[in-house]
Amino acid sequence: MSAAAGVTVRVPAKVNVQLAVGAARPDGFHDLANVFLAVGLYDEVTATPADGLRITCEGPDSDQVPLDRTNLAARAAALLAARHGLEPAVHLHIAKRIPVAGGMAGGSADGAGALLACDALWGLGTPREELLAICAELGSDVPFSLVGEAALGTGRGELLTPVAAGRFHWVFAVAEGGLSTPAVFREFDRLTAGQDVPAPEASPALLAALASGDPDALAGELSNGLQAAALSLRPELAATLAAGTEAGALAALVSGSGPTTAFLVRDEESALKVAAALEASGTCRTTRTAPSPAPGATVLPA
Ligand code: C5P
Repeated sequence: MSAAAGVTVRVPAKVNVQLAVGAARPDGFHDLANVFLAVGLYDEVTATPADGLRITCEGPDSDQVPLDRTNLAARAAALLAARHGLEPAVHLHIAKRIPVAGGMAGGSADGAGALLACDALWGLGTPREELLAICAELGSDVPFSLVGEAALGTGRGELLTPVAAGRFHWVFAVAEGGLSTPAVFREFDRLTAGQDVPAPEASPALLAALASGDPDALAGELSNGLQAAALSLRPELAATLAAGTEAGALAALVSGSGPTTAFLVRDEESALKVAAALEASGTCRTTRTAPSPAPGATVLPA
């Protein structure tokens, strides 16, 4: 296919290896120290010319993906087109592998993917800084979907500084149903009401372990400030975390706002073993295995 016929962009999922959450700000968001790690589990977004804006989706959970203008892919196309005085006349097809509403930034991935695909399809050559600004407008996690690899996100998570990451292996347990990110943050506020919530800070020990590529070191440093809130809303996730640890995972945590749970494992062989044990445990719907880090949104060769 020539670029005029269609552009496909591949975008990774993420796991947060540290998610430190501050108190709610006046604008309702929370300041974060959010160490993002992209994992090799991808959605693909293909943009082709069309009469109007249209979204389609394929994949095991595609029935859970909104196909209207609330989809971040649609919002990305509309925002980019509006900036250039264009009509968003594009068909966006999403091949979905990232769990939906799972705390792995699947919606954000589709937003970043659509932005890059439309930019290429329409031949705009938008500078990187401007693409990142549009991503931040779309959502707090969207800039990271564009850049991938590993990064510290501050502010509400959108201000990124790249950090070093060695290679690690992960298993993800996909839960039945999704969790709403705003609902998890509201639960965080409820659980911390009346407490002095410290300003969030990246952990030097976590960053050193991430850079080292030593899974035993990283296992001792993983943390998620939203985990208590996610478990409060979905207590059954505790059994999933326990099942993965019993099966030999080095560490287990909720991925972002959940309900996907993430398991750090020693190697690929251990990943397959832990994934099989999790599936057999009956405490999750399905599993995925993936290495990290992974590149950010990338236009695939035509
Ligand atoms: O930025 P995004 O649209 O992904 O955020 C979704 C919701 O998650 C926000 O409306 C807010 O309720 C919550 N959130 C937050 N603090 C952040 C990021 C998200 O409270 N840093």
